[in-house]
Amino acid sequence: MAYRVTQIEPYVGQEELNNLIKVIENKWLTEGPFSKEFLSIIKEFTGSKHALLTNNGTLALYLALKAVGIKADDEVIVPDFTFNASGSSVVFAGGKPVFIDVDESTFNIDVEKIEGLITPRTKAIMPVHVYGQSADMDPILKLAKKHQLKIVEDAAQGYGVFYKGSHTGTIGDVGTISFFADKTVTTGEGAVILTNSDAVYDNLRYLRNQGRLSSGSFIHEEMGMNFRVTDLQSAVGVAQLKKFRNIEKIKSNHLSTYKELLEGMPEIEFQKKAEYSNIVPFRASIKVKDPSQLMSYLDDRGIQIRGFFYPLHRQPCFNYLGYNENDFPVTNKLNATGLCLPVHCGLSKDDILYVCDMIKEFYAQK
Ligand SMILES: Cc1ncc(COP(=O)(O)O)c(C=O)c1O
Repeated sequence: MAYRVTQIEPYVGQEELNNLIKVIENKWLTEGPFSKEFLSIIKEFTGSKHALLTNNGTLALYLALKAVGIKADDEVIVPDFTFNASGSSVVFAGGKPVFIDVDESTFNIDVEKIEGLITPRTKAIMPVHVYGQSADMDPILKLAKKHQLKIVEDAAQGYGVFYKGSHTGTIGDVGTISFFADKTVTTGEGAVILTNSDAVYDNLRYLRNQGRLSSGSFIHEEMGMNFRVTDLQSAVGVAQLKKFRNIEKIKSNHLSTYKELLEGMPEIEFQKKAEYSNIVPFRASIKVKDPSQLMSYLDDRGIQIRGFFYPLHRQPCFNYLGYNENDFPVTNKLNATGLCLPVHCGLSKDDILYVCDMIKEFYAQK
């Protein structure tokens, strides 16, 4: 079915096309001048000392975990409410994810519950900045220092999101941002890894480029693989980053419009904005009454809706960890009540009015 209002649509156009033409004209397809520019814009914007591009947010997490030294049987504390890759990357790095419940109003890691999960095998905490808002990092930094743990930030959805002035992904030992097609800025597939540590940066350079620091060499000092990108992706990325402030403005306006139009409806509750973070809306994330009925009502009317994350402890691929279905009540509740309304830049105000009218119509006829 062709949707009248789609869930996502990348904000790409002539600027991306012009850059892509330049790559073809340059005849330099692997990492080249656009990749250099892409990294330099990211470093300047985020304030990160180092940045490395890689294929996607999942592999970025895997590399980040390897680069901080996660090995067989190391435990990494991961929020139960996130995309599957936050947990699977720990497993691929050889470690064991230990899930933790989240805060009911911000949907981010419940910092009060972290210390109770720390064991002698715990090596890292992975805060995930979900739906365009930062997790509360100060208590996490304090605990990491006290227990000598690494912090690997999953900022896949966090481009442009700052915690008390620091960009997400630059606060812990290492952080990752995804440029998948539904992300705030996109290269189709792609990601960046951020770190302020020279040692972690060197580990990442070896890991992502065949175990050597320079591409022309046939001497491989370390064991590494190929996790590089192409200049075609970076060309799109450069154009996207130059539009970031515009993207942020449009998405924020869309979120405000939803809030205004749905204000006062007892059936709907928006993701709470924490005082320590800005929000760059990933979606308009809401908790609602009768979510599956509302979702199919909107779908029938040409509006593409997504649910919230499926709790990691109930994912079939994590059955072997032995969690019970009722563990993590908040995550279960969020999954049972959450819906994502679209906020992408291709929407008009009329589209949002239409979505809100249909939501109101649904609840009025119940
Ligand atoms: C929180 C989170 N972590 C990791 C990822 C993985 O990123 P990618 O799709 O680029 O592999 C995503 C992607 O949706 C995500 O939302």
